[in-house]
Amino acid sequence: MNETGVSRKPFFYDVTLRDGNQALKKPWNIKEKEIVFKALLELGVQGIEVGFAAASDMDFDAVKHLASLANDKVVVSTLARAKEYDINKAYEAIKDAKKPRIHTFIALSPFAMKYVLKKDPKDVQKIAVEMVAYAKSLLGEKGEVQFSAEHFGDSLENLDFVIETFEKVIEAGASIINLPNTVERYRVSTFVNMVKRVVERIGDKAIISVHCHNDLGQATATTVESFFAGATQLEVTLNGLGERAGNTNLYEVAVSLYNCGVPVDLNFSKIYETALLVEELSGVPICEKAPLIGRDALAHRSGIHQDGSIKTKNMKKGAYRPIDPEFIGRKGEILEFTSQSGKSAIYEILSSHKWPITIEEATYLQPVLKKKAEEKGALDFNDIVEEYKKHILNVDGPFKVLEFKELHKEDGNQFYFLKLQYNDKIIKDECVGDGPIDAFINLLNSHGFNLKLEEFAQEAFDIEQKGSSAQALTTIKLKNLNTGKSVIARGMDPDTREANIKAIVNGLNLLFREK
Ligand code: KIV
Ligand code: ZN
Repeated sequence: MNETGVSRKPFFYDVTLRDGNQALKKPWNIKEKEIVFKALLELGVQGIEVGFAAASDMDFDAVKHLASLANDKVVVSTLARAKEYDINKAYEAIKDAKKPRIHTFIALSPFAMKYVLKKDPKDVQKIAVEMVAYAKSLLGEKGEVQFSAEHFGDSLENLDFVIETFEKVIEAGASIINLPNTVERYRVSTFVNMVKRVVERIGDKAIISVHCHNDLGQATATTVESFFAGATQLEVTLNGLGERAGNTNLYEVAVSLYNCGVPVDLNFSKIYETALLVEELSGVPICEKAPLIGRDALAHRSGIHQDGSIKTKNMKKGAYRPIDPEFIGRKGEILEFTSQSGKSAIYEILSSHKWPITIEEATYLQPVLKKKAEEKGALDFNDIVEEYKKHILNVDGPFKVLEFKELHKEDGNQFYFLKLQYNDKIIKDECVGDGPIDAFINLLNSHGFNLKLEEFAQEAFDIEQKGSSAQALTTIKLKNLNTGKSVIARGMDPDTREANIKAIVNGLNLLFREK
């Protein structure tokens, strides 16, 4: 769906190697930066701010190196304060890139100009214009200049002055105007309305960009809404790295826009592996609940959600997920059984591991597993199999109404000899039949049961799933003709005959357990 009808393509400008890097406890060296840079190329972002060339010799060298690696499909940029020294460093580092950009900035908010820069607004404006002109004079036609009004989000009171400054820096050579929410303090709509005012005034003269920090957790919303308000360049980071609570997370913005029908030129299938790579390189763990990339972000534990997710699992849109996990390079949704889970989860977890199960059997197992989960917490596949073996392959415990003792046929004898215990009564008898199962059922019927074997199948089942531990698995459908009730029952044993007997005993216990 395209709820807005916007067909403009966003320009993803990644600042992980600059804003993300400057907030790391141990900023990356050239080698590490190169790995992240290559991951960004694989993702297909349109612009990469590779560092802050004047920040340190290491960062200067890294910017220079990455600029030399860049192809002509991606803009490569470096940050510079609005100071000649920084701009010279930036130019030296970036000049060999195929598409170089210098990104210079100065604060324009009343608070920052008064208390941090300690300068008069007119002087700040003059510096901005002069430094943009200087950067442009170095780059010439080959490169672009981006200008940022640091603390734009805190500039509501002097927005006209800020926009006037933008007009002047554009005349001086800036072609990208970036609006940073340097510290997220207010509402999404306050920022977005400011973006709208800038777009109305200068949107036809420069590319408008937003750069949102996540101090209040609204950076993705602010960036997405800013796009719809007319900002084309979206500054983002991988895994939401960045100063303090980080910057807008690339994945969240990209998926939100994609879901809204906006054409997003990114290689979405690389998202998850990139996230894991960045987690490892940065030492910043991905929060378990982080949208899209958190280990728990696609897990379901409650019955209603499990049911909905199972019913829609092969569809593009899922009942309880924002995106098909495979689209971002993840495996499917995760189901875990807890005391809040339902039978669908049991069925799905076992059958996805190729264990035979019917929904009736899952219904039967549910209270048993619930009880276990109440004590233990989430149950994994192995916990569930353990109970399956106990209660499906060997119907036992309070439900046990019938116990098998023996069945044999002596050589040369046409009778089977059978002994079993039904409640407290021992039944011992001889019986005939077309094989042991038939004889077994005939004997039961002659003792007051009224049973019919409706289906029978036997297969080799590899219980450990290792290819070397096959046992016979008998599956039958047994009907109580008195009540009309049928059950599916299973028996497993290395011996094929024993597997059949177990299936019948289990079937009888299932049929009569409610009595
Ligand atoms: O957050 C910010 O204001 C910045 C600028 C340098 C763009 O990172
Ligand atoms: Zn920033």
